[in-house]
Amino acid sequence: MTGQKYDYGMIGLGTMGRNLVLNMNDHGYSVAGFDKSDAQVELLTKDTGTRKIFATSKLEDFINALKSPRVILLLVPAGKIVDEVISELKPLLSENDLLIDCGNSHFTDTDKRIEELKKSTIHFMGVGISGGESGARFGPSIMPGGPKDVYERVGAMLEAVSAKVQDEPCVTWLGPGSSGHYVKMVHNGIEYGLMQLISESYHLLKVAGNMNNDELHAVYAKWNEGKLHSYLIEITADIFVQKDDLTDGRLVDMILDSAKQNGTGGWTSEDAMNLQVPTPVIDAAVSMRGLSAYKNEREAGQKILKGPEAIFNGDKNELVSWLENALYFSFITAYAQGMALLQAASKEYKYDLNLAGIAAIWRGGCIIRATLLEGIRSTFTHNPDLSNILLDDTFAQKLTKSQAGIRRVVQKGAETGIPLPALMGSLAYYDSYRSGWLPDNLIQAQRDNFGAHTYQRTDKEGTFHTNWNQNNK
Ligand code: 6PG
Repeated sequence: MTGQKYDYGMIGLGTMGRNLVLNMNDHGYSVAGFDKSDAQVELLTKDTGTRKIFATSKLEDFINALKSPRVILLLVPAGKIVDEVISELKPLLSENDLLIDCGNSHFTDTDKRIEELKKSTIHFMGVGISGGESGARFGPSIMPGGPKDVYERVGAMLEAVSAKVQDEPCVTWLGPGSSGHYVKMVHNGIEYGLMQLISESYHLLKVAGNMNNDELHAVYAKWNEGKLHSYLIEITADIFVQKDDLTDGRLVDMILDSAKQNGTGGWTSEDAMNLQVPTPVIDAAVSMRGLSAYKNEREAGQKILKGPEAIFNGDKNELVSWLENALYFSFITAYAQGMALLQAASKEYKYDLNLAGIAAIWRGGCIIRATLLEGIRSTFTHNPDLSNILLDDTFAQKLTKSQAGIRRVVQKGAETGIPLPALMGSLAYYDSYRSGWLPDNLIQAQRDNFGAHTYQRTDKEGTFHTNWNQNNK
């Protein structure tokens, strides 16, 4: 190392960290990187060439290489490691240094870290980054939360490295405290929902529709040219044509049908439950990842639990067309649930979120980017406090028009015994939302009957309790 000082520091030189360092450097920023692993340091050093990048496994060298006040990004696995890194760094930092946690940290951990660091003169921001490896390298969607004046220290750099949609950067200051990590969590909840919905459509087409991988590729590629245009539909089309290196078949058929998860989808459902915001599509996605992992039990169940034969005898083109509408319909409800949760969380946690801004920065770089987000942005631009996009006239019309598809699809799922919980949850959500009356008077009656939990009446103000069955005997 020469005496040169670097603009930014990056802790964690795994794929994401390394790619973000290169991306930052492409935009003119000099970056010092730190990783405990010499192998990771080596990997970045190999890519450095004449770039103003320096990588080390010695923490003090790293700290001394940074311009003051320091700005250090953390791209390390969420959880305990973040706290360990902060404890190691703290004694080496100086007044006004800024730490930016760019991992998928739980928002409550971010709140705790902010509180803890407030006691010193170190600033802390929680920033969600989406887009995987290639996003980090060539433009992710970035979801920053924290004090606005602190954001301003790094705003220009984040804008430079972020994805762009029609020249607009896919980053904006979201709000105070843990808002950035909260928004990233909900992004991931929606991501889980969309992935589950797509997988259900695949199940129906592959098993009941008996379509091969080439046919599936063609269907998803075609859908990606229309109203379903999105990153996840695009990569799904590509997945079906990926050859397997080890056999003559396609890779997708060689992958074990047991999904893993790092927790962010579950956190979304959990917080939605806490805030009493219904997110059934996301919940179904989380549960189904769990169920998929019970491979042995499912195989045992397959032998003894009988059901209809999974064969679709109708017109396959019709099935494809119903499914396109069903996916469009259910994508809208997945985003609707995520946005409704953000709206509620914004009030509860005093984030004061701008939902139009969030929809705008999700249009590029991130995993849930989709053409649909353009409409969501415009809806919240005109009506920033809207509690749910289902109540917006434009979306209401889109749902009304595409509902026939999802009704047929759900019917076919039940007839053929193919599980479609997210699609079914999406339709039930819609049907519940358009029900001015739901049967919950009965639930209230039951609660009051067995537990004297009281109820409200339709004709009078107040809280009532009845000694049930007394008058009927
Ligand atoms: C992103 C992704 C990413 C996440 C993966 C895996 O926005 O780039 O959301 O942050 O880690 O999607 O998540 P699961 O392991 O929970 O599926």
